[in-house]
Amino acid sequence: MEVAQRIGQTISFETCQEEWNALAGDYEKCLDKNKEYRKTAESYHSQRNACKSQIDRQMKKLKILKESLKKTSSSSEKKDLLEKIDERKRSLDEIGKFLPRKNGFYLRLIVGQVNMILDSTADKFRYKDEYEKFKLYCSVTTLGFAVALVFFLNHRVFDAMFSFVLLWYYCTLTVRESILIVNGSRIKGWWVMHHYVSVLLSGTNVIWGDNEAYREFRPVLMTFSIYQSLVQVMQYYYQSGCLYRLRALGERHDMDLTVEGFQSWMWRGLTFLLPFLFFGHLWQLYNAYTLMTIGIKYNFNEWQVPALALLFFTLFCGNFFTTINVVVQKQKKRIKTKEQ
Ligand code: COA
Repeated sequence: MEVAQRIGQTISFETCQEEWNALAGDYEKCLDKNKEYRKTAESYHSQRNACKSQIDRQMKKLKILKESLKKTSSSSEKKDLLEKIDERKRSLDEIGKFLPRKNGFYLRLIVGQVNMILDSTADKFRYKDEYEKFKLYCSVTTLGFAVALVFFLNHRVFDAMFSFVLLWYYCTLTVRESILIVNGSRIKGWWVMHHYVSVLLSGTNVIWGDNEAYREFRPVLMTFSIYQSLVQVMQYYYQSGCLYRLRALGERHDMDLTVEGFQSWMWRGLTFLLPFLFFGHLWQLYNAYTLMTIGIKYNFNEWQVPALALLFFTLFCGNFFTTINVVVQKQKKRIKTKEQ
């Protein structure tokens, strides 16, 4: 029996010495394995860079070829060749999904020009899954915190702590989402912007003083926070459901889970979720309105009041119109799939 399995039992020094000698052999094996791994890793990196530069070269040549081709007189062969060039570009784009790429401005500010591309579909899926779970855990935490603030903790310091947690949460989301985007996620620009606006909103809440205007708005803000956390939990079940089904669609070649099957599941989820989302958006508009009435009552003697009103109004407009746009786009896609 090994020493590790006998922890807690008394063993002699000689047995320990024997184990130590046996471990020396294992240690050698570890070193050899590590050497082998380092060699493979180096070869992997050089292959990846070589592949990347070959693709870049192809892309550059295709671009020049396309430009030259456009200047030639039109014919059916020319049209064919242009289509083939576009097809080749799409294929190269597809291959490039797993190769290093330059980070966007925000990501560069945070991590610099380190490669953030996950190089397998399984890793991309795991990262997205982690992101959704992170949102769920944070939503449950903020839900509990907001309930405690409404019923037990009535002190400005706890409120500021709550807003600070939200501030940290949204900052983290902006980073995680930037990584998702370089890895090919189709998150709409507004949802990322939504998190920047929420950072400003939470930051303003942290520094808002404890005065009458604040105390008047507090119950509305806290009940809204409870509602928003609940909606985010519902959103998690919808979005992680989409994620797992889309993954199954990509993996199963026998297609027992069809595109149509996925779409009908998605629509059922969406029609359940939408009334809650729209109610939340209207609540954001109501928050903006409440803040404006509070501002008028106290002659706008604090900048936080109109600033928060403007931020809530921006959230309402962005969320409401983007959600409508998403639904319209999905409906069009659904009709197209049915027609095929
Ligand atoms: N935040 C982050 N990512 C989002 C997102 C959001 N609000 N909405 C969609 N995405 C992501 C999806 O996960 C998907 O990612 P992927 O390409 O990595 O797979 C991509 O964007 C495209 O998603 P799409 O098909 O356009 O939408 P969906 O079906 O996943 O979700 C909604 C549609 C309407 C349910 C979703 O956008 C949503 O919940 N919006 C409302 C948010 C809101 O208003 N919150 C405030 C409530 S008070």
